[in-house]
Amino acid sequence: MTQPRPQRASGAPPTDALVQALMDDAEAGALLLDPQGAIAMVNPAAERLFGSSAARLRGVAASEVVRTVVAGDDVVREAFRTAHAEREAVLQTARGGEVPVQVRSYRLGKPPWVLITLHDLTQMRRMQQELRRHERLATLGQLAAGVAHEIRNPLAGIGTSAQVLLKRFEPRDERARFAQVILEEVARLDRIVTSLLQYARPRTPELRSFMLSECVDKVIALAADKIQNAQLRLETHVAPRLAALYIDPDLVTQVMLNVTINAIQAMPEGGTLRFEVAKVRRKAPPRGPGRRAEDRGGNRPPGQGWIEYQQVRVIDTGVGIPRGVLAKMFDPFFTTKSTGTGLGLSISQTIMQEHGGSITVDSREGRGTTVLLNFPLEKRNGERRQHDARSERPDSAHRR
Ligand SMILES: Nc1ncnc2c1ncn2[C@@H]1O[C@H](COP(=O)(O)OP(=O)(O)OP(=O)(O)O)[C@@H](O)[C@H]1O
Ligand SMILES: [Mg+2]
Repeated sequence: MTQPRPQRASGAPPTDALVQALMDDAEAGALLLDPQGAIAMVNPAAERLFGSSAARLRGVAASEVVRTVVAGDDVVREAFRTAHAEREAVLQTARGGEVPVQVRSYRLGKPPWVLITLHDLTQMRRMQQELRRHERLATLGQLAAGVAHEIRNPLAGIGTSAQVLLKRFEPRDERARFAQVILEEVARLDRIVTSLLQYARPRTPELRSFMLSECVDKVIALAADKIQNAQLRLETHVAPRLAALYIDPDLVTQVMLNVTINAIQAMPEGGTLRFEVAKVRRKAPPRGPGRRAEDRGGNRPPGQGWIEYQQVRVIDTGVGIPRGVLAKMFDPFFTTKSTGTGLGLSISQTIMQEHGGSITVDSREGRGTTVLLNFPLEKRNGERRQHDARSERPDSAHRR
């Protein structure tokens, strides 16, 4: 006869497991100190901060590894004296280094145990700097958009007048040549203004079911002249049985065109331009700086923890990208070209983010460059991102 299984009282969570899960998942480092001030529990984020394993840290007196620069000042002793404290301190790492941290302490129970959380200050400051930079760029973008808008009308006036002048002169008249120069320069300014407006006021994607390979075909048709003039070899490879995705075909075509024109411009001496469309499956990146508990466990249900993309690869055999340029190429207005606006990749990145996707670059100087466009497979992603895009401006200066 089978025994009836003992029923757990409903609504009573297993506290130890709950604490363990919270510690494992926390992005901040966490130490639990016993009433003697020795480390009793260490979470993975703290292991990374100390550069040491939990096994080595357990039992160590916390005051030996969490200190301040002021002689006689003891963060740990103070943590046992007050219910809650917050201050800066320095961690002594396993390799003899020091990591500045923000320490928060919570005194728990009687006799008192102490929970200490540790936030890497260098990382926090870097994030604050990045945030300030984003804010500056957003303001700059708005300002530029205002100016661009004002420039459009007079520019149209100059263009139309030059057109009229051009018609009044004989083609051999040198004044016709001057009028032609005005028209070409007006067209260039107009392209810059259009890019500026696209960057500063991106339009919300209108998602519909569409094949990425069709966007590739469109791009090849649009860039056909440039490909031929540069005498490039063209190759395409589209994996079989790829499904349609939820994308805004015009915006995605624009991204691919930006990237393709960059690739063509990188091959002034000729070369091969190759497009690949494939499905890729990749382990989901860890959340924050750490791995999640479930990534380590073997009992994850199949299919979870993996992300599937459709990936478009635009590959050139051109000049490649020096390290210094790689770090800045997604920054708005960054260009190494005399006639570039430096907005092509910034706009492309914003569009990819609004699709819930990403754009990354792999390059070897003198050998060539591969630009990877990753599109999430889930329809839901696209729809959600579309919703998000209305409420928040996407950040446009993220690097890879
Ligand atoms: N495939 C590539 N090969 C080599 N360098 C590249 C490649 N793609 C981009 N770059 C580098 O990145 C820079 C920024 O590219 P981005 O498309 O944003 O601007 P741009 O091409 O300079 O100007 P615009 O796109 O407005 O014409 C380029 O100036 C170039 O130095
Ligand atoms: Mg470009």
